[in-house]
Amino acid sequence: MTDRRARFLEVLGITHEWLPRGLPPLAAEAAPLAEPMEPMEAVEAVEALAVAPVEAMAPLRDDPAVSVPQAVLPPARLPQAAGTGMEAATPAVADMAAARPPAPSAMPPHAQVPVPARQAVATQGEADGALSARAAGIASLDWPALEAQVSGCTACKLCSTRTQTVFGVGDPQADWMLVGEAPGENEDKQGEPFVGQAGKLLDNMLGSLGLARGNRVFIANVLKCRPPGNRNPEPEEVVQCEPFLKRQIALIRPRLIVVLGRFAAQSLLRTTTPISKLRGTVHSYEGIPVVVTYHPAYLLRTPADKARAWDDLCLAREVHDRAGAEA
Ligand code: URA
Repeated sequence: MTDRRARFLEVLGITHEWLPRGLPPLAAEAAPLAEPMEPMEAVEAVEALAVAPVEAMAPLRDDPAVSVPQAVLPPARLPQAAGTGMEAATPAVADMAAARPPAPSAMPPHAQVPVPARQAVATQGEADGALSARAAGIASLDWPALEAQVSGCTACKLCSTRTQTVFGVGDPQADWMLVGEAPGENEDKQGEPFVGQAGKLLDNMLGSLGLARGNRVFIANVLKCRPPGNRNPEPEEVVQCEPFLKRQIALIRPRLIVVLGRFAAQSLLRTTTPISKLRGTVHSYEGIPVVVTYHPAYLLRTPADKARAWDDLCLAREVHDRAGAEA
């Protein structure tokens, strides 16, 4: 085990690494980009959920073993990353279809209001046009205007239940950008991302890389408002909020984005691929390299995967340093 890995595991409170019998050594020591062991992770995640004490349970949405239901993913509306040589975020056709409203025949009879075909198309077209116009407006904002627009946003119903918006925290000139899912209860109260137990773990993870929030690091979420009861974000909420994150990324131009957890990864990369398969590969969002790792709340429930998170951070460090050398 390398010194840094040992230090990282110590910081995270892991004194022994337990590996199921018959499995190969951990990826960082064997091959950095080794194929993740998905079935084992799924079993571990399910077992961890079954035994985790109630106070340690973060919402199920953080669990990597559970795919984002197709309907949670927004339709693709953004231009794709230019050819970067890395795996690009490709909108899955199935995702777009799943995000549409159900066919009338799938609705209960009382919900089936006949709409003339032409009118329905015009309404959808108008909605798409309004969304594009809004996204184009946000794409032209500078940092203070973007902050102001986020804090006054009423584009989706989350504005009626939030205490405040959570724009993000850190250095607008950051090299590292970390992206989580959505504010939870503590974040909604304090107006800052990752301030609860999961945030403490995140700070420790950053510390073991020699980083700290605010110092060359910016932390944001896919959603800027808390979904009530920590429920999963809905497709419409993601669609309305994504232009804010996209603009944050465009203004910061980090060398690297580290995506925390299944939901953020699947939303940002527009995929339903499980997190176990997204880890270990460098993806791309708007031409910026993306590394996927577990959500800290999941790691609190499943400490066995902290060693894999360290492998992800080593990959992130490598990509960051490479991007710096090329700049
Ligand atoms: N989980 C997230 O994904 N983001 C936060 O800000 C807090 C918890």
